Amino acid sequence: MSGIKTLGQFIIEKQADFPYAKGELSRLLRDIGIAAKIVNREVNKAGLVDILGDAGTMNIQGEGQKKLDVYANEQFISALTSGGECCIVATEEEDDFVPIDSPVSKNAKYIICIDPLDGSSNIDCNVAVGTIFSVYRRKSVEGDATISDVLQKGTEQVAAGYVIYGSSTMMVYTTGKGVNGFTLDPSIGEFCLSHPNMKIPKDGVIYSINEGNYVHFPDGVKKYLKYAQVEDLATRRPYTSRYIGSMVADIHRNLIKGGIYIYPTTAASPNGKLRLLYECNPMAFIIEQAGGVASDGLNRILDIEPTELHQRTAIFIGSPKMVQMAEALMAEHS
Ligand code: AHG
Ligand code: MN
Ligand code: MN
Ligand code: MN
Repeated sequence: MSGIKTLGQFIIEKQADFPYAKGELSRLLRDIGIAAKIVNREVNKAGLVDILGDAGTMNIQGEGQKKLDVYANEQFISALTSGGECCIVATEEEDDFVPIDSPVSKNAKYIICIDPLDGSSNIDCNVAVGTIFSVYRRKSVEGDATISDVLQKGTEQVAAGYVIYGSSTMMVYTTGKGVNGFTLDPSIGEFCLSHPNMKIPKDGVIYSINEGNYVHFPDGVKKYLKYAQVEDLATRRPYTSRYIGSMVADIHRNLIKGGIYIYPTTAASPNGKLRLLYECNPMAFIIEQAGGVASDGLNRILDIEPTELHQRTAIFIGSPKMVQMAEALMAEHS
C-alpha cells in the first residue's frame, strides 16, 4: 500500500488542522464517503437493475424525480442518520428540511445541505452525474435546530464537496484549507488521494452554458458569448464550448482545464435555475478555495443572504480572469 493515501487516512491526518475539533467533522465526511460508494455501486450497474427512468413523482423544484434521485436521497439521509454527526439534512429532493431525530443526532453540531444526484436527467444515457454537499455548524445552542440554522451564508460553510460518478468516480472536497481530490479504486473500495491541492487555471478557453436559452439571456451574457466567439489569437479566442448538462461534471472539467460555467437568469427561470444551498454555495466554496471566482453576475455567491430553503440564483463560476470579464460585461450591459 506504500504511496497510497486513502480518504480515511487523509481525513484523520487533516484533523490536526482543527485543534479544537473532536473528530465529528471527520466522521461526517467519512459517512458521506460511504453513502457515495453505495450510490456509485448503483449508478455503475444502473442498466442492469430496475433503477433507470422516472420515479413517477415530482419534487418541490417542479422536476420529475428519477428513481436514482430518490435512491441517492435515501442513501445519504440514511448514512447521515446512522453516523449521528448531523442534526438536519436539507436536500433538493424534500419539500422541507429533514430533522434527524435520533437521540445522538438531535444535539449534533452540523447541518448538511445536499444535492443527492446532480445531472439526473443524464442518468438514462450513461453520462456523468454527481453529488454536491455542504456542511454548516449549527448556530442555535438549545432546543431543536431550526430553519435559521439552515439559512446561513455560503461564507459560513465549514466544508463542501462533490462526488463525480464519471469514467472514474472521484470525491473532491474542501474544509477551507485548499481542495483535494480522491479517486475511487474499485479494487479496494477506497477513495485514494489522486489530486492533492487542486488549483484552477487563472485563465482558460472553455465556456459552458446552455446556449439554447440564448434568446432569454441578459444582455451582459449575450455580450460575453460574442466576446468568447470572436477570433483573437492573443487571448486564444474563439473559445471552446463544452456543456454536459451535469453541473458537477462541467465544473470538474473546468477546474482541471480552466474555464467558465454560466447558468444565468432566463425567462423560464427568472431567478436562475440552480439552487443556492445545494449547488451554488458548495461549488463556489470549492472553486474559491482552488483560486477561482463564483458570482451571480454582479455579487459574490458566498455573500448572498439566503431567505428560503430552495432559493435559486444565477451563477458565473470558474477561472478568475474569465469570470471577471463576464462580470464586467454584466455590469456594463445589464
Ligand atoms: P439536478 O439534476 O440536481 O436537478 O441538477 C440539474 C442542473 C445541473 O446539473 C445542470 O448543470 C443543469 O441543471 C442543466 O440544466 P439545463 O438542462 O437547463 O441546461
Ligand atoms: Mn433535480
Ligand atoms: Mn443539481
Ligand atoms: Mn439533483
